[in-house]
Amino acid sequence: MDNMRIREILALQPEGQSLKIQGWVRTRREAKNVFFFEVNDGSCLKNLQLVVDKESHPQLASQLERMGTGASITAEGVLVSSPGAKQGSELQAHSLCVIGEAPADSYPLQKKRHSFEFLREIAHLRPRTNTFGAVARVRSSLAFAIHRFFQENGFLYVHTPIITASDAEGAGSMFQVTTLGPGKADYSEDFFGKKTHLTVSGQLEGETFATALGKIYTFGPTFRAENSNTTRHLSEFWMVEPEMAFCDIHGNMDTAEAFLKYILSYVLENCAEDMDFFNERIQLGIIESLKNVIETPFYRISYSEAVEELQKAPSDFEYPVSWGADLQSEHEKYLTETVYRGPVMVSGYPREIKAFYMKLNDDGKTVAALDVLVPRLGEIIGGSERESRLEVLEERITGAGLSKNDYWWYLDLRRYGSVPHAGFGLGFDRLVQYTSGMANIRDIIPFPRTAGSAGL
Ligand code: 4AD
Ligand code: MG
Repeated sequence: MDNMRIREILALQPEGQSLKIQGWVRTRREAKNVFFFEVNDGSCLKNLQLVVDKESHPQLASQLERMGTGASITAEGVLVSSPGAKQGSELQAHSLCVIGEAPADSYPLQKKRHSFEFLREIAHLRPRTNTFGAVARVRSSLAFAIHRFFQENGFLYVHTPIITASDAEGAGSMFQVTTLGPGKADYSEDFFGKKTHLTVSGQLEGETFATALGKIYTFGPTFRAENSNTTRHLSEFWMVEPEMAFCDIHGNMDTAEAFLKYILSYVLENCAEDMDFFNERIQLGIIESLKNVIETPFYRISYSEAVEELQKAPSDFEYPVSWGADLQSEHEKYLTETVYRGPVMVSGYPREIKAFYMKLNDDGKTVAALDVLVPRLGEIIGGSERESRLEVLEERITGAGLSKNDYWWYLDLRRYGSVPHAGFGLGFDRLVQYTSGMANIRDIIPFPRTAGSAGL
């Protein structure tokens, strides 16, 4: 007999089919001689109700005793319509086998609601909860949708290195990779013969392929040793970075908007049950708000316009607003939630607050940077048109206190067949957070790494 997953079973018309399932017991309930078990196998949010009539199957008594919450089981039975209003079908079991018991006095996941903070401490078991199962399915679906969007639009998937010697953002928040013993700092004796780090972004390496193959994307882990203890920062997170040759800032905006709309539509369509759960239990009305995002054109404003809007705000911000200062989370929230009530694409930031590789605009003061801000979260995408003029880029590198020698290969891309090109980085974990409505980014990645914490 084939095992079926609960997701498939619940889609069947119950007509007395013989089925076998495997999963974990969520709850058990006893009524006279009948036992009811809710079993989940991770294929969907819903459980399958398993019904065991002890009188008809006395041989199952020993198994029934061991079937507590958390136990893993195999059951065979017959699929029938459930007399209960809530479940469509139930499995009337005639054979049961407990594979692994879960002693009730120590199993940490009891029927009551656990706080997300508590669940973070048992990150190895939290995938067995409704919320984390739903997050895992939505996360997987979003990753698939991302690949689909790019593959359907002629982008090549490129693997950029995790260990690198260049600082892609020039911001210095990198984790060092070394095999040198403590106190030793002669990097010529280190494993790679030079100082190396975990990558903060695959962009610069990505540009080498974009300026040869036209359109590429990377999708991999990135690492930042920032000490930002917020609900939207991780030290290890996943980033998606498309890069397009022969593309300017406007083409970049068009792609970013089409891309976000595509992946959100994909998830609403393919994860309807999980999205309903988020809509009802995690962030009321999230489905409606995502539909709005899909249907409405994004606002496109300049940094200067953003500053003007913020200066008109009736209440004070914690961080003062002035032309030249970076936008803080509270500013991004105000713009997206109060002024524009939807996603906003902001471009033309002051050169001083953005990375060295961004194209210098004709005003000499701003760069062709692009941030996509969304309600509830703020910055979800950061990107730019890249500086493609050799001399200007050289100046920007030295101006940022970096060494031209370190970027010789990056400069070569401008020396030989330079083209306007542009791209952006989508924080994948922020995307999952935004799509699910989960308040804390630590709760949408399986094993969060943040300053002071790398459990499991
Ligand atoms: O704006 P960022 O720093 O841009 C880059 O790294 C560029 N190289 C991207 C490019 O143009 N190819 O980061 C991009 C996105 C941010 O908008 C944010 O969503 C996410 O990455 N991000 C983080 N997500 C979680 N935790 C952190 N510490 C993050 N830092 C950035
Ligand atoms: Mg950014």
